Amino acid sequence: MSVSRKPVLQVPVSAMQHAWLSAMGVNVPWIVTEAAPQSAPTPSIEPEQITQVQAVSSDPSATIDQAPVAPAPEALKAALEALKKPQKRVGSQSPVPTIARQSSHMGESVKHQDLEQLQAMIRVCQACSLCEQRTHAVAGEGSAKPSVLIVGEAPGEHEDIEGRPFVGRSGQLLDNMLQAIQLDRFEQVFITNMVKCRPPANRNPREDEISACSPYLLRQIELLRPTVVLAMGRFAAHALLSTKEPLQKLRQETQVVTTGENPIPVVVTYHPAYLLRRPTDKRLAWEDLKRVRALLTPRD
Ligand code: URA
Repeated sequence: MSVSRKPVLQVPVSAMQHAWLSAMGVNVPWIVTEAAPQSAPTPSIEPEQITQVQAVSSDPSATIDQAPVAPAPEALKAALEALKKPQKRVGSQSPVPTIARQSSHMGESVKHQDLEQLQAMIRVCQACSLCEQRTHAVAGEGSAKPSVLIVGEAPGEHEDIEGRPFVGRSGQLLDNMLQAIQLDRFEQVFITNMVKCRPPANRNPREDEISACSPYLLRQIELLRPTVVLAMGRFAAHALLSTKEPLQKLRQETQVVTTGENPIPVVVTYHPAYLLRRPTDKRLAWEDLKRVRALLTPRD
């Protein structure tokens, strides 16, 4: 397919970004040329605090070699304004998100845990029957002060073996998606799942399993205090937002999850595994990723 590109004005886009954009059917690289946001160094969880952390790939083809996408001030202002208004929760009559409602009794036991203790607790959890067949519970990994908290569905086979989130094919796509909005998986992001143990044969997580696990995610959100949560796929989105609305609808606007006092914007997008099956929808996922980027401050 020949792709018509607008003349010169285009910012240099790395080979990796080109590949990703054209795989999404994107004709115009709309990377913004404005001043690059200064990224403040963010403390990461020390390797011993998380399961088997690995360094980010040093493959030069995987690096972003031009100015980061600048946050759109208008979009950011609008999102912040929206957060000040009473929050609409899609499809929910209740002012309390499902995840908070579900967490009441188990929530007590995680309430006073710090991040390191919480991660350790998750790794030995026996709150539901998923513990019986797992190799590892996958607590999550990344920055302890993340700009973006990514919430997937549940570990798959590779994640179960390695004890790390998103290390299989979905993880490779996720890494590319993050690089396209100039986020480093370990420096600026924390990645976890709604359910921390692999459901047998990768079946969908059940309601009782989501309920059993949700206090962990709630406490992770409280402790990590990300600028934005990116919910990938309907299980993460439904549990976080207490709704059964179609993912397609939830994507349309920035949602909100409240833990403690803090409303945190939630962008809903497709799960990478879905995008691997339906690459044409990467075009839509790109819209969601740009919204994530726009919600970040220059310090993110
Ligand atoms: N899919 C998920 O939702 N999470 C993972 O960690 C891996 C695949």
